[in-house]
Amino acid sequence: MTGIIGNQWTGVILAAGQGTRMKSSLPKVLHQICGRELIKYPTELMTQLNIENIFIVVSPENAEAIRQELGDGFEYVVQSDPRGTGDALECVLPVILGTDSQILVMNGDVPLLRPESVQKVCLSHLDKSASMSLLTVLDVIDQELGIVHRDMEGRITHIVEATARLAPQSNGVLEANVGVYCFDSKFIGDSINLIKPNRVGERYITDLVAIADGQGKDINSENCFHPEELLGVNNRLELSKVEAIERRRIVEHWMLSGVTIQDPESVYIDHDVVIGQDSIILANTALRGTTLIGENCQIGPNSVIDNSIIGDRSRITCSILECSTIEFDVEVGPFSHLRANSYLESGVHVGNYVEIKNTRLSQRSAAGHFSYLGDATIGSDVNIGAGTITCNYDGVEKHSTIIGSGAFIGCDTLLVAPVSVGMGATTGAGAVVTKDVPESRLAVGVPARIVR
Ligand code: UD1
Ligand code: MG
Repeated sequence: MTGIIGNQWTGVILAAGQGTRMKSSLPKVLHQICGRELIKYPTELMTQLNIENIFIVVSPENAEAIRQELGDGFEYVVQSDPRGTGDALECVLPVILGTDSQILVMNGDVPLLRPESVQKVCLSHLDKSASMSLLTVLDVIDQELGIVHRDMEGRITHIVEATARLAPQSNGVLEANVGVYCFDSKFIGDSINLIKPNRVGERYITDLVAIADGQGKDINSENCFHPEELLGVNNRLELSKVEAIERRRIVEHWMLSGVTIQDPESVYIDHDVVIGQDSIILANTALRGTTLIGENCQIGPNSVIDNSIIGDRSRITCSILECSTIEFDVEVGPFSHLRANSYLESGVHVGNYVEIKNTRLSQRSAAGHFSYLGDATIGSDVNIGAGTITCNYDGVEKHSTIIGSGAFIGCDTLLVAPVSVGMGATTGAGAVVTKDVPESRLAVGVPARIVR
């Protein structure tokens, strides 16, 4: 983005609403789209615009959860009763007035807004020395929104809360209020208490438009660059619509950055995912959390990669990875599951129906066919035969298994942990290993004994 609005601004994010229409026990602004909580969109946008002082208006019910999610980089102000967006702004004013900065207010539930649009309205607000500025969108509206009304000269006069589809417009144009406002601090200090409660006792920030107009002030406005930026999240239907747009944006971003996405409609990529050039993402694949995919990888089809790191040239087919790391040139799948804290070094091969948990496989080791490897440390060039199971749980505690480099674990071996198999050792098919196998020896039978 070119230019940032900088530090003469104080940011305010309104997030104290009850979110009743979500019908949820989770605060509305903590619902996620593309793996990120709604509240993080405005906070990140303001941060991108270089605004350092950001105040978040929270409610007594959601204060703790929001603070936990966002941490200490923000100031939190509690609106004790959710009496409308005007009341929410009034709560924060005693803390911020007195500075000569401009005030940028954003609703907490409008995640598709782009920093370019917000920057545009902030810059024109300064340019025109306006008392109040609004961001608006023309003609795209299928939500309950504030409709901006203008007089014959085109000056903004007031906002009417309405179902936009049904709202008749005086001049034939529908113009909606996005929920982003710039205020001169003097104006807002003098005017906030002029907002009157409506018949249900709520005080609307949008009434400041009519108040400014009544004082003969010009109300400045800018349009968003993209109409879709307007869409807010007030119920789960809107949540899914907004997510679909954001998801498409993310997928397009990666395609334009050199990633092949075979079927963009069925690929889900969270915000904080990074994908290297020339990787291919096949259909029905979700890349979640802070996943990092290297270059020239092939992921999918039908895979979920959650908070994991995947090195260059690796290939994951129809598999699920959670909180795991794999290095370069690794193959996983089809139909395998890496659970938390699995680590596969370069050249490892994990084939079909293998479950791995809290286990490290060193370079070039292979577990080609249905196995369970849990709490194990496995050296390099180890072959894990089909049907191998680490019996890591005795019903009370977990125990570890250690397998030395170059070991050969025969098919159907049960490794009853805690146990170790030395470097270059072998277990016979069907062995139930209950005692450590020394280096280079062969253990067979039930329970396994050393025979060579
Ligand atoms: C609001 C605007 C509407 C605009 C729309 C854009 C008002 C009266 N209406 O409607 O003109 O088109 O946003 O999305 O402002 N909040 C508080 N305290 C409260 C009430 C709300 O902090 O007492 C917060 C909410 O958490 C939310 C934001 O303010 O983040 C907007 O509130 P919401 O109830 O969603 O307003 P809308 O009906 O969407
Ligand atoms: Mg809303």
